[in-house]
Order: sequence, then C-alpha cells, then structure tokens
Amino acid sequence: MDRIRIVGGNQLNGIIPISGAKNAALPLMIASLLTSDTLTLENVPHLADVELLLRILGNHGVDVSVNGRRETQNGMYSRTIHFTCRTIADTTAPYDLVSKMRASFWVIGPLLAREGKARVSLPGGCAIGTRPVDLFIEGLTALGATMDIDAGYINATAPKGGLIGAHYTFPKVSVGATHVMMMAAVLARGTTVIGNAAREPEVVDLANCMIAMGAKITGAGTSTITIEGVTSLSGARHRVLPDRIETGTYAMAVAMTGGDVTLAGTDITLLDTAVSAIRRAGAELIAVDNGIRVIGHGNDIRPVDIVTEPFPGFPTDLQAQFMGLMTRADGVAHVTETIFENRFMHVQELARLGARITLSGQTARIEGVKRLRGAPVMATDLRASVSLVIAGLAAEGETLVNRVYHLDRGFERLEEKLTRCGAVVERISD
Ligand code: EPZ
Repeated sequence: MDRIRIVGGNQLNGIIPISGAKNAALPLMIASLLTSDTLTLENVPHLADVELLLRILGNHGVDVSVNGRRETQNGMYSRTIHFTCRTIADTTAPYDLVSKMRASFWVIGPLLAREGKARVSLPGGCAIGTRPVDLFIEGLTALGATMDIDAGYINATAPKGGLIGAHYTFPKVSVGATHVMMMAAVLARGTTVIGNAAREPEVVDLANCMIAMGAKITGAGTSTITIEGVTSLSGARHRVLPDRIETGTYAMAVAMTGGDVTLAGTDITLLDTAVSAIRRAGAELIAVDNGIRVIGHGNDIRPVDIVTEPFPGFPTDLQAQFMGLMTRADGVAHVTETIFENRFMHVQELARLGARITLSGQTARIEGVKRLRGAPVMATDLRASVSLVIAGLAAEGETLVNRVYHLDRGFERLEEKLTRCGAVVERISD
C-alpha cells in the first residue's frame, strides 16, 4: 500500500495548478446517462473516484473515450472525456461498485428518468457518518416513483408514462439529493419546484451543463430550483468548474508553511467563507487573473473559530484542513462540524504530530502549539488525510502518511504539485 513521505519545514513558492472539481465531475459524468448523444466534459480530473465512476457508467452502457492529458501553461493538465450512452445497457448498479463510492448511487436519478426503472445498491463512501438516503427516496417518491428497499438494493420504478413534475421541499439540505432530483426532473412531465435545494457551485455546474443539453432549469444556486421537464436531452460540451476544496486546501498549506504561491485556474468567488477565514488567520489571498495569489507567513497564525454549514457557509470538506492550520495558531480556536456526525477522525492523527485538540460533541477545541513534529500517521478519509499532509509540511522532520489511497480519491498529482513549489514530498510504493 502506498505511503507519502513528507519532510516538513520548507516554505511553498511557485504555481499550483488547480484541477477540475471532483464533486462537480462526478454528477456531470452521471448526467451523460440522460441522453443518447455525446456529452463532452473538459477539465476532468484524473482521480480514483473518477476512474471508478467510468467503470460504473460503462456497466450502464456509456461508451467512454478519453483524450490524452495535455500539459498546458503553468503545468496545467487538460483532460477531455466524451461520454455516449446510445442505450442504457443495464439499470442495475451493483453492490461491489456502488459500495466503494457514495456518489455512484446518484445514477438512480437519470436511470429512472430515462428508463423508468433503476435497481441501485445502497451506497458506501467515506466513513464520515451514517449518510442515509431518505431524502433521495422522499424526493423521487414526490415525482411519482415507487421506491422499495430489498436485499440492500433500492428498486425504483417510475409511473407509466414517466416521472411527473412536483413541488418538493427537502427537510434538510443535501447536495447529492439535489443533484438527483434535478437529473430526475429534467425529463419528467410538467414542472418541478425543488425547495431548500443545495446551493453549492457544483449544483450550479450540473444545472448549467444540463441547460446546455436542452434542459429548462432556473434558480440553481438559490434555495429554489424550478425545472420544466422536456422530452429528451441532446449532447453538449461543458468544462468542469475548478475544485474549490483543492483550492482551499493549498491556500491553507501556504498559510501554514509560509511562502508565496499562485493557485492557477481557479476562482476566489467559489469559496468566499473559507477565504475570509484563511485571511482572518493571517494569510493574504489576492484575486489575480484566472487564479488566487496566496502569501503565507508561516507563523503568527491567528486563531479563528469556524462552523461548517451548507454553501455558502464554511465547507465541511475543508474542516479537517482548517483544523490542521489552527494547530499552529497563536491561541485557542474552535471548529464545529454540523454536516457529518463522525468527521473528526483526523483529530487523533493530528495529535501524533503534537497538536493539542479536545473534542466536546461536535466541537473541537484547538490550542495552538509553536511546533509540530513529524510522525507516522494514518489517513482515515479523503479530507482528513490531506489535513495530515499540510500539517506534515509545516512540521519539523519526517511525516509518513499511511493509506494514501484515500488521498488518491480526491487530489490529483498532489506530490508533484507540492514538490514543484519546494516541498519535500514523495510517494513510497511498497
Ligand atoms: C457531497 O456529499 C459531497 N460529495 C461531500 O464531499 C460533501 O462533504 C457533502 O456533499 C457536503 O458538502 C460529493 O459531492 C461527491 P449531503 P453528499 O447529501 O451529497 C444528510 C468529499 O470529501 N443526508 O449534502 O453525500 C447527510 O448524512 C465528500 O469530497 C440525509 O440525512 O452530502 C449529511 O448529514 C465527502 N439523508 C447531510 O445530509 C439523505 O438522504 C449533507 O449531506 C442524504 C443526506
């Protein structure tokens, strides 16, 4: 199993190209099931989760053709993938694939919309909470689907003539359930109004792509999304938006190690709340042409309290990294997680590096220390593992991050991007 070895203490200086967003690419790829024409996605990141979804889509009959990665300016890679699903070959998404990645459950929306039926295994994914599917069931039921759970699978069936538009308000904000409702409603008969919809930029990206495919959607990015169903969608070409979580992660790394890095190919407006928290912690973040310049001082990090919330609040996917940053703050900070009930697995690993963190319910109290010291640590989930990497970059000596397959799910060419900026980071394959 691969490990990452980091020798901390170096400042980061240079350019880090930001990849396409994993959490936008996954639903966009799934949207290819909605049409028999070709959907072309540009800027698709090369990540384990994307590769797994390519296999899952192949199983449903999607023909995939990948244009090789081309290195462009600033070390940016560009990967374009063409998806063509002439006919749905199989409406079953089996346990052995879906259990590896929660987002693959989302195929239920387009399968139901296009074929009128889907049999999808209950999902897996990062072990950060119970992560139920009740909101998907309620939402699709509102569109007229019959939903039964049997032997670990959800059997969903649309009424004769297809799904029927409806007004449905989610009792709780869910990114995935909003994606699925949109993908189901675009081919439903009549008008669907989704209340309490997720407002994440990835929801807007999916809506924009489906609009390019001929869908009639308004309001994406607000809490009310209105969809007029159409009878079919066509192909389109769409560029995956930049990864705001990768952006925030590297900004925090620079805030922690010190240095001057331009995050290229990203957009500061995608992460206002996180940008403001990192600025309050003492780093300078400046919007530049097609990117963000981050100037970190590496010390005098100010303590900042944050609470995770659905967009536009502070993202749960940056919580672990921000806690990493706060381990070196000059004072006490509090980090409260409100989205997932078990997203503090990095706490004990950060403690191995010398962090002082105590947990009380959903709030962590972090008492900043002057120095972190490298140690062997264990990656437990995707974002937790990258928090260990950035803490390792700021620690004295060697940090060995075990179980890096978690990192490979969501961070493209991490070692290469950091090494180019002066970090000592290498992958050790046993
Ligand atoms: C998406 O997960 C992201 N995944 C997650 O990123 C992210 O942490 C999360 O949104 C929140 O921003 C992808 O986009 C692929 P939710 P999702 O449904 O859609 C509860 C990462 O590290 N809920 O918005 O699965 C749920 O348990 C990943 O890249 C229900 O109760 O998250 C959670 O408490 C991890 N019932 C809350 O809603 C449901 O039916 C929000 O989850 C569905 C969700």
